[in-house]
Amino acid sequence: MSNEAFNNAHVLDPAASQATQEQITGEITDIHEAYRQEVLAGKKAETQPRVDFAPYRSSLLRHPTKDLHHTDPETIELHSPAFGQRDVHVLESDLTIQHNGEPIGERIVVAGRVLDGDGRPVANQLIEIWQANAAGRYVHKRDQHPAPIDPNFTGVGRAITGPNGEYSFTTIKPAPYPWKNHHNAWRPAHIHFSLFGTDFTQRMITQMYFPGDPLFALDPIYQAITDQKARDALVATYDHNLTSHEWATGYNWDIVLTGSNRTWMENEEEEH
Ligand SMILES: [Fe+2]
Repeated sequence: MSNEAFNNAHVLDPAASQATQEQITGEITDIHEAYRQEVLAGKKAETQPRVDFAPYRSSLLRHPTKDLHHTDPETIELHSPAFGQRDVHVLESDLTIQHNGEPIGERIVVAGRVLDGDGRPVANQLIEIWQANAAGRYVHKRDQHPAPIDPNFTGVGRAITGPNGEYSFTTIKPAPYPWKNHHNAWRPAHIHFSLFGTDFTQRMITQMYFPGDPLFALDPIYQAITDQKARDALVATYDHNLTSHEWATGYNWDIVLTGSNRTWMENEEEEH
């Protein structure tokens, strides 16, 4: 069966989104086992989520079916918008001070470094985050499940990495939330991260998770990454040194940009 026929078979079946968690988990287990066998047989380990991943039902009609169109970044970068530290205020990395009152929930600090594939720091990198509140609710019209909106929490922030690639956000620990991928589907608690590079053609989007989440095994988005080591890389570490007395708990999460040895800021400096 071709990919398209396979996808259509799932999506056009009105029962598809009514799949049970047991079905979804069973499919995840089978795909992971097949992957494990392939790696044992010598296949290279995967590092990225699969775009064509049947348990992730709601992505079946909208995931890319063709290879990415590769453009020449050297040319495009000359004409594309770039982002710099002068555009971002340092207080934008604190998601708990955007309104008149304190948001409800567990105050946390999420900090780490952005590194390239060789472990070198990526400085002056724009990082944007967005997330649900402590009740698992987004400030978004499409999120209508019965959990309260917090008038003191919008759930978006941004920061620019320092000279050693370091970043730090102060925020509220998000809760899991339901979605309509299948019956009784719940996302593990997560924070969305976007890294821009120097222009739109380099944008990378990922999610950070919290250690020990009981929903990991059930989540087809997290499990669309078939490799355990690659999945583990998305989970922050509780860091008591980042935790501050009577203020906030701390989580450490480093972001490693693989696939290129290029350190964006070095090239930008060369160009100017
Ligand atoms: Fe989300």
